[in-house]
Amino acid sequence: MKVLALFSLIAPLASAVVIPDTDKVITYDGYRVVRIATHGRGQAIEKRLKTLNAVQYNFDTQERIEIAIAPEDLRKFEKMKLEYEVLDEDLGASIVAEGGFSPGSAGRKTISSLNELTPAAFPDLTWFNAYQTFEKHQQWLVDIQSGFPENSELIEVGRSYEGRPINGIHLWGKGGKDSKPAVLWHGTVHAREWISAMVVEYLTYNLITGYSLNDTQVHSILDNYDFYILPVVNPDGFVYTQKTNRLWRKSRQVRSSSCIGTDINRNWPFKWDTPGGSSKNACDETYRGEAAGDTPENTALTKHAETLVANKGIKLYIDWHSFSQLILLPYGYDCNRQVDNYERQMSLANGVASAIAGASSAKTRFKPGATCPSLYKAVGGSTDWMQDVGKAEISWCIELRPSGGGGNGFILPANQIKPSGEEMWQGMLHLLTTM
Ligand SMILES: *[C@@H]1O[C@H](CO)[C@@H](O)[C@H](O)[C@H]1NC(C)=O
Ligand SMILES: [Zn+2]
Repeated sequence: MKVLALFSLIAPLASAVVIPDTDKVITYDGYRVVRIATHGRGQAIEKRLKTLNAVQYNFDTQERIEIAIAPEDLRKFEKMKLEYEVLDEDLGASIVAEGGFSPGSAGRKTISSLNELTPAAFPDLTWFNAYQTFEKHQQWLVDIQSGFPENSELIEVGRSYEGRPINGIHLWGKGGKDSKPAVLWHGTVHAREWISAMVVEYLTYNLITGYSLNDTQVHSILDNYDFYILPVVNPDGFVYTQKTNRLWRKSRQVRSSSCIGTDINRNWPFKWDTPGGSSKNACDETYRGEAAGDTPENTALTKHAETLVANKGIKLYIDWHSFSQLILLPYGYDCNRQVDNYERQMSLANGVASAIAGASSAKTRFKPGATCPSLYKAVGGSTDWMQDVGKAEISWCIELRPSGGGGNGFILPANQIKPSGEEMWQGMLHLLTTM
């Protein structure tokens, strides 16, 4: 058991809580990823699968369940006689091939502020050849900002449960800082969705280099909007996925003696206690927390968004996730409610999907739709809050590559970082010039 001094400072109940030992590295060697056909019996099948040592990938179980099953339980799984196909014979091998997971690598080194770092060379596109550590993402922000000093600043919106900075970069054009409506982007709220930070940074890189090279399209975009870009909003979870458990989703807040972490994307203070669409059980992947907005991460993100709302308002919010290749509009909390400007948001989303499909010979297909019913009921999500409380004109969740677990799910090979970034850049060029 590991008790950090930090916990007793931050969590008032820490002394009464036995912290679960979750520091044991999980390599996923021999785990098999399968797609089970559910034929509308998702809930019943899900219940049976709970008896296995396994990690479920999706929560929309109407048609299928994608799940990684531990080698010791593969025989038990076979005996369930479910209809399934194999997506990955050995998840551990895929994680090794992906290249970014370093079990047991040095501790919990925390940068307390980006100001502590000294800028090095301006980044180039080789950054996008591989997944990167949290520490390197921090340095990257400092490096890219130093090459764009007149039109950007580093921002820190708050601290994670374990005390890491939640930070990013603010970009603006000729009107000067904080003079235009906001474009707000969040990456990596779900720790295992590594592609999201890389794509958000690819877009940032293109905005900065495009502006510096006097690209007229990029100039008009940055002259019209202030960008607030936070590539990793769940740093504790992200660090944990890189050293201990590649498939971790939640934060790392200690709440109970048996389970750790809250789903920050079920914790937003809007219709938070609507039944269904999040979990009250601290052990579940979609655990919503004990009260609306009670995670340090959500508190920081909400406060930051509120300052943008009070200034020039939020024009566009995107929460970047993986995977499924979807462009999701609100609402998640109510499957019968449509956003007031539904036609407009859908028409923009369709335009983005076309731009993505036209970006390369790969013709990647992204599907637009409302979160519920397109994906599933999800309560306490960021896009519902941004739409109704934040009054964002456009509020989306984009689920990046791949389309399904067959493309390796969360373990998207590193050679797909650049293509993912490039197609999304084409999508964003369309959106940012037409919205
Ligand atoms: C971009 O435009 C500015 C202002 O006109 C000029 O000083 C700068 O040299 C230009 N940069 C490039 C790369 O053309
Ligand atoms: Zn996600």
